[in-house]
Amino acid sequence: MAKVLVTGGSGYIGSHTLVSLIKAGYQVVSIDNFMNSKPEALEAVQRITGQKAINYNIDLCDTEKVGKVFEDHQDIDAIIHFAALKAVGESVEKPILYFKNNLNSLLNVMDEVHKYGINNVIFSSSCTVYGEASDLPVTEETEMKEAESPYGRTKQIGEYVLKDLSGIWGTNVVSLRYFNPGGAHPSGLMGEAPRVKALNLVPVITETAAGKREKCIVFGDDYDTRDGSCVRDYIHIMDLADAHTKAVQYLLERKNTDHYEVFNLGIGQGVTVLEAIKAFEKVSGQSLNYEIGARRPGDVISIYSDYDKAKRLLEWTPQYTIEDIMRSAWKWEQDRPY
Ligand code: WQD
Repeated sequence: MAKVLVTGGSGYIGSHTLVSLIKAGYQVVSIDNFMNSKPEALEAVQRITGQKAINYNIDLCDTEKVGKVFEDHQDIDAIIHFAALKAVGESVEKPILYFKNNLNSLLNVMDEVHKYGINNVIFSSSCTVYGEASDLPVTEETEMKEAESPYGRTKQIGEYVLKDLSGIWGTNVVSLRYFNPGGAHPSGLMGEAPRVKALNLVPVITETAAGKREKCIVFGDDYDTRDGSCVRDYIHIMDLADAHTKAVQYLLERKNTDHYEVFNLGIGQGVTVLEAIKAFEKVSGQSLNYEIGARRPGDVISIYSDYDKAKRLLEWTPQYTIEDIMRSAWKWEQDRPY
């Protein structure tokens, strides 16, 4: 069966994708130096699938060490490149760290792709590339606006680099633009476990409910939306992982018509912050301690996806709702093993 190299394999999306790939019968190899993830996530992958994922604990910015991994695995059929720093706020405080880490790691991987003639690359992009879109839902043809942060800029630059390289080399590249990932593996054995304190909404909600945070601050309820709070398209991590496996199959079966293709991965539903909190309260049976605070600089007011292209071409249909996200996230938070 085909072999897939996953960079960032012990991360939130990476670890859930390893499970999906293994269950689909792929051989997997991971590169992850646990900069913002934990080795326990790979142990969870093994507990869930019964298979141990080989992981190389190296820095993807170290060209020599990256080269050694590819030398050891010259039979790679596809690469999924997750590894990147992704905290929007932190990227504003440490822009050089983000540009160096996210771009050098991508360029090192692509150097090896060219050296070994690897034909298929999947890139972890983000809806952040759209900025504040004027028309909703956003499609893959929606123009990229000015990035709201250096993090978002690294995703935009990454897409342009890959588009150019795919055209010059003939490599098949798919960029997957994630909306807002959330939730956890239904077993409760694996979930969102960053090394740094989570800043995104779903873990802030579950940590507050678990008493690990005093309260959840809603960053503004005076926006021009149905209840004044920001709108996002929350996608369950299991749906997101499944989409990656389908994207690998899509490329290996040569179904792509262009060397560079982009897909939105959201569920096409806009949910406000206050609605997300209500969904949590409904599934947990707990009222959440939250209060309305000031707007967060850089926040997009409203964004949600049109995922029809992924549905048609990747044969992918999301199965989970915001309530499923909250239910699985709450289960993870209460009994999380790491
Ligand atoms: C969602 C909404 C906040 C926390 C970012 C990246 C994106 C992706 C996901 C990597 C916003 C509100 C949040 C809180 C709040 N990352 N919120 N109180 O900013 O939409 O997207 O993370 O791929 O690329 O940009 O996610 O969860 O931080 O915010 O009110 O304590 O929840 O204002 O409206 P975001 P988020």
